[in-house]
Amino acid sequence: MSSYDLAVTGGRVWTDSGFVDGLDVLVSGETIAEVVPTGSASLGSAEVIDASGRVVIPGVIDTHSHHRDPGFTHKEDITSASRAAAAGGVTVTVGMPNVDPPTTTAALFEKLLEDFRGRSVVDYNHNPSPTNLGEIPGLAALGCLGFKLFMVVDGKRSYPHMPGLGIHDHSDIAKILEQTRDTGRPLMVHPNDQALLELIEHRHWDADLMGPEPYSKAEWMFDGVVWNSAVATLIEIQRGIGGKLHVLHMMSDRTVELIRRAKADGQDVTAEVNAFALFLANWDEVAHLGPYALGRCLKDEWRAALWAGIADGTIDVLGTDHAPHTFEEKKSGWENMWATPTGTPQLQHYVIKLLDASHRGLITLEDVVRITSVEPARRFGLAPRKGVIAPGSDADLVVVDYDREHTLGDEPVYSKAGYNPYTDETVKGFLDATVLRGRVVARDGFVTAEPGYGQQAKPVSAM
Ligand code: NCD
Ligand code: ZN
Ligand code: ZN
Repeated sequence: MSSYDLAVTGGRVWTDSGFVDGLDVLVSGETIAEVVPTGSASLGSAEVIDASGRVVIPGVIDTHSHHRDPGFTHKEDITSASRAAAAGGVTVTVGMPNVDPPTTTAALFEKLLEDFRGRSVVDYNHNPSPTNLGEIPGLAALGCLGFKLFMVVDGKRSYPHMPGLGIHDHSDIAKILEQTRDTGRPLMVHPNDQALLELIEHRHWDADLMGPEPYSKAEWMFDGVVWNSAVATLIEIQRGIGGKLHVLHMMSDRTVELIRRAKADGQDVTAEVNAFALFLANWDEVAHLGPYALGRCLKDEWRAALWAGIADGTIDVLGTDHAPHTFEEKKSGWENMWATPTGTPQLQHYVIKLLDASHRGLITLEDVVRITSVEPARRFGLAPRKGVIAPGSDADLVVVDYDREHTLGDEPVYSKAGYNPYTDETVKGFLDATVLRGRVVARDGFVTAEPGYGQQAKPVSAM
């Protein structure tokens, strides 16, 4: 008779063929041993999580999070970000290279992985910058999941889009894609037409349009051309060169349409949408929260295109773009948003927001699982170890009380940003437990595991 360490019993469980009612997920050590109809296996002395009346989804994987560590640890650090992740159902968090020093060499990447050891509650990785062509093979050999390229450089501030990391010369992008293609790892790109952005910026600055409203709508000028022309260019470069292209920050209707067509043409192109674009980019939120919502404001038809792009599979991955800055740092945005850092903390609450959105008919629960776990795992080579609930996979699970209504704001905020942009919202969908490799790392929104439990989540497949 087998013996199990943990049994998550009686839940509606995500499987290869969708949700199935009444299953027990039986865990031995760090991996799933069996998934069987409830009651059909003897649980022995296993710790039991009763998931009857609950939904059990695979641990969430966030491939786009700004951990701010090293260099900006007053905003966030590895431990605080990983706690926010655990509380929010995220079992793998992947950082971005706009840290100080920026992650541009294998030696710096190795140092950063060393920093992670002993300090993360959840499994982790980091997307280095591919700006040094000669470093790309060495970075891949150290087990990065993907590379992150910014096409944007900030005008009136030096962070988050710092000089040195932003590349917009098309020939440089082509050379980078040649190199990342040969590693088999995806190239994640923040699309932006820098020349057109600068034109738009100067028009705003010359007219003294500096506050949250004009800032948030600046990219409406010429109908989103700063995004659209960059995505069109990237898709053509990928068509010529090959390689895996993962386009970040889907923002407009036309970018979604361009990705849709590239996929129909058989190109190896995937797309990311961000939590803030779905949940914080309405004019109401910007008017109310100003710098604490921004990001940017999306036209209604742009946002509608994002939901439609999720529904038809054009959009593959939700990346949080968890972008913490302190409350104090954001304050100046009421006067001058161009000089104030953009972005909002997301890691702890975005899964709940997506569950709530599924109650509102904006997205199916199946698509929530697809864009938060299944596709991130597949695109970045973590499947079938992660993003799957099946024997042999890591026992990474989130137990969801799908119908529970609650108001956000009473729980601890784990991000050093210290605020939650969704405070006071009443939402439907509650996270009972986050399980990582067989261990409960958060329960009822409280972190229960110590820093150091997390390990590097390395690619196990070439996809
Ligand atoms: C990022 C950041 O804060 O570092 N996010 C943001 O500004 N919303 C930068 C980025 O992803 O472009
Ligand atoms: Zn970006
Ligand atoms: Zn980002």
